[in-house]
Amino acid sequence: MLLALPDVPLPSDSALARAVSELDARLGPSKVDTSEPGREAHAKDESDAVGRLPAAVVHAASTADVATTLAIAERHGVPVTPRAAGTGRTGGAVPVAGGIVLSTTALATIVDIDQEDGLAIVEPGVVLGALYEAVEAEGLFYPPDPNSWRDCTIGGNVAENAGGPRAFKYGVTRDWVRGLEVALVGGRTIRTGRRTSKGVTGYDVTSLLVGSEGTLGVFTEVTLALTRKPAEVATVLSLFVDVRAAAAAVQAVVAAGITPRCLELLDRLALEALRLQGVSFDPRAGALLLTEIDGRAGSLDGELAELGDVLSASGALDVVAAQDAAQRARLWEARSALSRATRKLATYKLSEDVVVPRSKLVLLLEEVDRIGEATGVTYLTYGHAGDGNMHVNFLWNDPAERPRVDDAIGRLMRATVGLGGTLSGEHGIGLSKAPYLPLEHSPELVALQEDLKRAFDPRGLLNPGKIFPRGHKAC
Ligand code: LAC
Ligand code: ZN
Repeated sequence: MLLALPDVPLPSDSALARAVSELDARLGPSKVDTSEPGREAHAKDESDAVGRLPAAVVHAASTADVATTLAIAERHGVPVTPRAAGTGRTGGAVPVAGGIVLSTTALATIVDIDQEDGLAIVEPGVVLGALYEAVEAEGLFYPPDPNSWRDCTIGGNVAENAGGPRAFKYGVTRDWVRGLEVALVGGRTIRTGRRTSKGVTGYDVTSLLVGSEGTLGVFTEVTLALTRKPAEVATVLSLFVDVRAAAAAVQAVVAAGITPRCLELLDRLALEALRLQGVSFDPRAGALLLTEIDGRAGSLDGELAELGDVLSASGALDVVAAQDAAQRARLWEARSALSRATRKLATYKLSEDVVVPRSKLVLLLEEVDRIGEATGVTYLTYGHAGDGNMHVNFLWNDPAERPRVDDAIGRLMRATVGLGGTLSGEHGIGLSKAPYLPLEHSPELVALQEDLKRAFDPRGLLNPGKIFPRGHKAC
């Protein structure tokens, strides 16, 4: 089910050959993979986009390797697509112009964990799960939790400004990045940001780079803020007859002044996907809320009781608090398995990550029902209800259905923007949402961002075809 690739300038074969031979000479052949399987493995990510085969994959082992690659790319006018684990869902790491893929997975050292100042200095290829382990061993906590935390890397998290369930209380990756070392096209390396929590010198270039989807520079070191690890966590599962009741409960929890770290909602079909995995729920349940609170030792009992009261008063069919760590882990396992479980429901699946103001959640869900009815496309919805950030998954079996799916996606994007929302809360624009960007950003805002892009990368060599609608088929 291939996504059409955008129209981007392609490098000539001779420019590619010169670039690859110089990379080989400067970095050594062990870091420059020109094998067929190596190139093929780096032409895709977790989206349904397959790029043009790159001429080579560079496995950088140092900042100098990254800078050298970006200098050689500029000298020969060859596009570069940076990537790490490739767990992105919108094609951000897919090389649409062939060229060179620059992998930072080998840059995987945790350089420092600073207890006193609550900081971690890490290389971009550090796997998020490994960072959790290292900081938690010191009693510290790094909250952003994209669902792919077992495999995804910090570099990709920063590039996409990744987030997950805990964002409701703790925010997303951008809220935890203090500073960056970044290599630019041409080979210059700059440092942005600081180690301190406060600081207002100059433009906030760090924030601009976070979420820039590999289009402005390649991160070679990241300074992250940490907090104390919460001593206690309590997880509560509640069941409702339908998503409307569950969404109303979300509002009631927030109105009561409770700040759970997660407020996750699953609709009827998402529950069905879990039932198919062997998890059993009250047959009357058509929606589920997974709520989690955390805090200092002994501080949770009152809040937990209040949370239970609010959920019951909101019409929950059942409210169950996990009794121990194993039960908590089982609840979250089911939630994390959802994306994979959904994949099993149909041959093809596209998962969107739209966000609306929390007060508009019910309106969004009603709109999704109307879209399903109008287009005849099967869908299920789950996600981070506390943030108004929902994964609407469209499911289909026959490739001939794809135009109807595109119609449904277009309608969803328009409805989201109409409700005062945004196209993406977690997964970025990448390739798959680039045609829709003008629904949310004015032509002036798109042009301003293109100017910024040119300031970093005048020839458009870094990750071409991403974010901007230019070259994409209009939606
Ligand atoms: C999740 C991914 C899809 O929340 O963002 O499961
Ligand atoms: Zn998500």
